[in-house]
Amino acid sequence: MFKPCLVTFFLLILALYFISSLTIHVYKAKGKVKCRHCILNITTSEKVLQNNEHNFYRTLDERIEKMDADPIQVLPDYRTPCWNESLTVPDPYPLGTHLYIRFFSKNTKVRRSFQQTFEKSIAIFKNRLKTRSNKWRLRCLPFFYLIGINRGGSTSLWSSLISHPQLMGSGAAKELHYWDEVRYGAGLEEMGYGQYLALIRNDTIPRPIKSYVDLFDSVAETLRSTHVMDRNGRKFHPIGIGEGSPNYLTDFGNWKVLEANKGLSEPKYILAHILKMLTPRVKIVVILRDPIERCPSGTLVYFLTPIF
Ligand SMILES: *[C@@H]1O[C@H](CO)[C@@H](O)[C@H](O)[C@H]1NC(C)=O
Ligand SMILES: *[C@@H]1O[C@H](CO)[C@@H](O)[C@H](O)[C@H]1NC(C)=O
Ligand SMILES: *[C@@H]1O[C@H](CO)[C@@H](O)[C@H](O)[C@H]1NC(C)=O
Repeated sequence: MFKPCLVTFFLLILALYFISSLTIHVYKAKGKVKCRHCILNITTSEKVLQNNEHNFYRTLDERIEKMDADPIQVLPDYRTPCWNESLTVPDPYPLGTHLYIRFFSKNTKVRRSFQQTFEKSIAIFKNRLKTRSNKWRLRCLPFFYLIGINRGGSTSLWSSLISHPQLMGSGAAKELHYWDEVRYGAGLEEMGYGQYLALIRNDTIPRPIKSYVDLFDSVAETLRSTHVMDRNGRKFHPIGIGEGSPNYLTDFGNWKVLEANKGLSEPKYILAHILKMLTPRVKIVVILRDPIERCPSGTLVYFLTPIF
């Protein structure tokens, strides 16, 4: 009984694999590959940084590349690493050219959700600028990262985590893929974007950290307006903002792009070093799963549907 069953199973898997690769091929041939992270317009570099106001971020980017940045000076009464920045205009995002908007194809759900997050922030800023004393905004990086491996159950754990009243995502998406795909272009070749890679390499790499910080602006406002009193009767803002791109655990494939790793045969620095350097108190939650259980889940998602 056992052997025929095993053989049938393998034949079935083979057949499914064959059919699915055909499907993917057909989709590609028609130029209709649906994907999570389609790249829209990657030939232009980030114009935002030409503004002097963004010198802070430009310097930060340079120092990250050299691995000699100091921890970001954060406000002590916030759980999330946040800092204070002046706010002069209600729309600090040139929406059409924002890196996170350009990164996704037009009208995908994920792109719309990024767009909506920025629109929400702009509405908040307009409101804040009505009062003279409110000409500032909070800027934040994540308090926690949920990382792991694909098909490892991270989405399920993510839902449980952010159902806690003091934990939140960016509002745009669980996975922001800044440190792997967006900043360094990691994994894009494996995902079938080889043809874009040459262009990506020609673009400004690394892509500015400012674009990432922008994503947390609208939740930062929630964080600012929520506080509790600590034991000493001082205000404390207890909400922790997080991000859940599982690939951060493994996808630092383009480590050679990091200036401090240049010319080395193996990485001296990986993402963990960068996160610790910038936000030393960051919390990392890792979820792993038995590979045998991941296999059928991965087969279903990556091979049997033309979406990847
Ligand atoms: C890409 O960006 C440039 C400059 O922002 C713009 O002129 C061009 O039309 C864009 N291309 C597409 C396909 O959106
Ligand atoms: C941010 O800076 C402004 C202007 O200096 C100040 O009024 C405001 O209280 C500061 N906010 C925080 C949270 O420190
Ligand atoms: C990369 O940039 C250089 C100089 O700007 C240009 O000559 C070259 O054609 C670009 N390559 C690609 C693949 O866009």
